[in-house]
Amino acid sequence: MFSEKLFKRLYHATHITFLTGAGISAESGVPTFRGKDGLWNNHDVMQLATPLALKTNTDVFWEFYNWRRRLVTDIEPNLGHYALVDFERLISQVTVITQNVDGLHQKAGSTDVLELHGNIMRSRCSECGYLPEADGKVLAFDKIPYCPKCNGLIRPDVVLFNENLNSTILYQAQEASATCEVFFSIGTSSLVEPAASLPYIAKANGAYLVEINVERTPLSDNADEFIEGKSGKILPMITVLFEKIREK
Ligand code: APR
Repeated sequence: MFSEKLFKRLYHATHITFLTGAGISAESGVPTFRGKDGLWNNHDVMQLATPLALKTNTDVFWEFYNWRRRLVTDIEPNLGHYALVDFERLISQVTVITQNVDGLHQKAGSTDVLELHGNIMRSRCSECGYLPEADGKVLAFDKIPYCPKCNGLIRPDVVLFNENLNSTILYQAQEASATCEVFFSIGTSSLVEPAASLPYIAKANGAYLVEINVERTPLSDNADEFIEGKSGKILPMITVLFEKIREK
């Protein structure tokens, strides 16, 4: 199931990087976006997840995001998230770049997490940038929040479609991709930029490129190793096997 080359590269690695997508949280009960039962199959993303929707369709926009917030409030990390934490004991530098906004990597204990698309449980004022949760405020899930400072419309601190990513976080993600020795792409359809380019940056800089997914994606033919299966099953197997090899 796993190549000897993967463990050889891990054995000599000082820095590994993970890119994760909705698939790593699927076994925690968080819906993915595409494929069977995908969120975007039942919701019109352009009506719900754009800056225009926030402004012109505010009720429905916040109904959708409050529904997603409730979804991620009661969920727990799964064995896939915890395996990435285990890697922090085994390799000196581990970077987790996630497209997910559910905060499960931090909840599992990962210490170096780059949230490319933000975090759905964090809010931000669209006008003055005020951060309610950072100020100890807890927003109710049943109404449209307005800023106590400037009365501007508060929004989830996530990257909406047609928006740019935080340039500092993107730069750090590109750096972590360019400087790691092994790059894992886990549970992502590899369709959405700029995240989808990160594996190619890693490969172009000599990293060993591994993809873990339940089905092939546009990245699969370019990966050094495609491992078919659920990340919550595959990742712990890799950490257990790697730990045994290190002890020899
Ligand atoms: N283990 C591994 N992979 C899985 C699992 C699992 N248990 N379950 C599903 N997958 C795979 C699917 O095969 C699919 O390739 O996870 C991927 C999920 O793809 P998407 O739903 O497109 O999610 P993602 O790639 O994270 O989307 C990227 O698109 O809508 C935007 O901002 C949103 O961050 C999101 C971005």
